[in-house]
Amino acid sequence: MIKKPEQFPENNYFIHKPVLINEVIEYLNIRPKLTYLDLTCGLGGHLQAISQKLSDCNGLTNHNLIGIDQDTQALAYAKTRLPDNVILKHGNFRYLNQLLNDLKIPQIDGGILVDLGVSSYQLANPDRGFSFEKSGPLDMRMDLNQSLTAQTIVNDYTEFNLARIIYEYGEEILSRAIAKAIVKARPLYTTTDLALIIQNCYLAKYGSGYRQKFKINPATKTFQAIRIEVNQELIAIKEMLSTAITLLAPKARMVVISFHGLEDILVKHFFRQAKIHKNKYPNDNLKLANQAALFQNLTPKPIQSSQKEILANTRARSAKLRAIEKI
Ligand SMILES: C[S@@+](CC[C@H](N)C(=O)[O-])C[C@H]1O[C@@H](n2cnc3c(N)ncnc32)[C@H](O)[C@@H]1O
Repeated sequence: MIKKPEQFPENNYFIHKPVLINEVIEYLNIRPKLTYLDLTCGLGGHLQAISQKLSDCNGLTNHNLIGIDQDTQALAYAKTRLPDNVILKHGNFRYLNQLLNDLKIPQIDGGILVDLGVSSYQLANPDRGFSFEKSGPLDMRMDLNQSLTAQTIVNDYTEFNLARIIYEYGEEILSRAIAKAIVKARPLYTTTDLALIIQNCYLAKYGSGYRQKFKINPATKTFQAIRIEVNQELIAIKEMLSTAITLLAPKARMVVISFHGLEDILVKHFFRQAKIHKNKYPNDNLKLANQAALFQNLTPKPIQSSQKEILANTRARSAKLRAIEKI
C-alpha cells in the first residue's frame, strides 16, 4: 500500500529543492507525447515539473514519463506527489540497458535527465549515515539493498586503500594522516566519531586556526570520498553516460547536473568528445567516433544557478548543468 506524505514518520527529512528547475525544463525542450526519463528521480521535484509541462500541452500519456532511482525510500515518497501515470522504477542507472529492457523501452525520443549526487533528504536523515553533523550509523548507501556500507570501508579497508580513496575521491590533502588516524581508532561506529577524528587531524596540522583557513567543515571531503566509494559513483556515471547516448533518438536531449569537480569533469569530457567530428578520432576509436559525431553540445560553458537561487538554496551553489542533443 502506498503511503501518503503525512504518513511518513520521518516526514521532516523528505524535503529537497530541485536545482535549476527552469533551466532543466528549457534544455530538455519538452515536447508532447515524447518519452522522458529521469535517472535520478529522488523525491520527484524535477519529474513533477516535467509532468506539469507535458500535461500543459496534453502530452502526458501512460508510458512517456519514467523516473528511476536506487533509493526505495525516495521513490515511495515521489509516488505520493506524482500523477499516477508517471512510471517509477527502482534501480541503479549503471545498469540502464537492463532497466529499459525491463520497461520495454528501446529508445528515448524526448530526453534524459540526470541530477547527480545525494539528495537533501538523504543528508538530513541521520539514520542514512551521510551526515557529519548529526550522529548516525556509518552507512551512506543510496541503495539500502546493497551490502557494502561506510562501516566496512572505515573499519576493514587497509590504511593504504583508505588514504587513496580519501585523496582520489575527496581531493583531501591530509588523506594519509586521516587514514592513519582512522586505522588507529578502529573500530568506529558513528558518523560523528569519524568526523571527530578528521577534525583532530586538522587541529594537529593547523591548530585551531584551521576554521579560518578552510571555509568548509574538515569532514566534508573525507565524507564525500567514502560516499563515492560506497556507491561506486564515478564508475556508475561513466557506464551510464556511455549507455545513455546510445539510447537517444534524433533531436532527443540529455541534461546532466553535477555538484563537484569529479562528476563534472566526467560529464564535460564525455560531452566534448560527443561533438568532435569522427574523422578526428584515431581508427581504433571508430565506434565511439561514429556515435559521437551525431551530437551537438548545447552548453559549451556549464549553466549555473542565479544568485537568487543560491540565496534560496545553498545546494545550488555548486550545481553545473550540461546538455547535448542528438543531431
Ligand atoms: C540530487 S538527488 C535528485 C533529486 C531530484 N531531481 C528531485 O528533484 O527530487 C539524486 C538522486 O539520485 C539518486 N542516485 C544517485 N546515483 C544513482 C544511481 N547510480 N542510480 C540510480 N539513482 C541514483 C540518489 O539516490 C538520489 O535520490
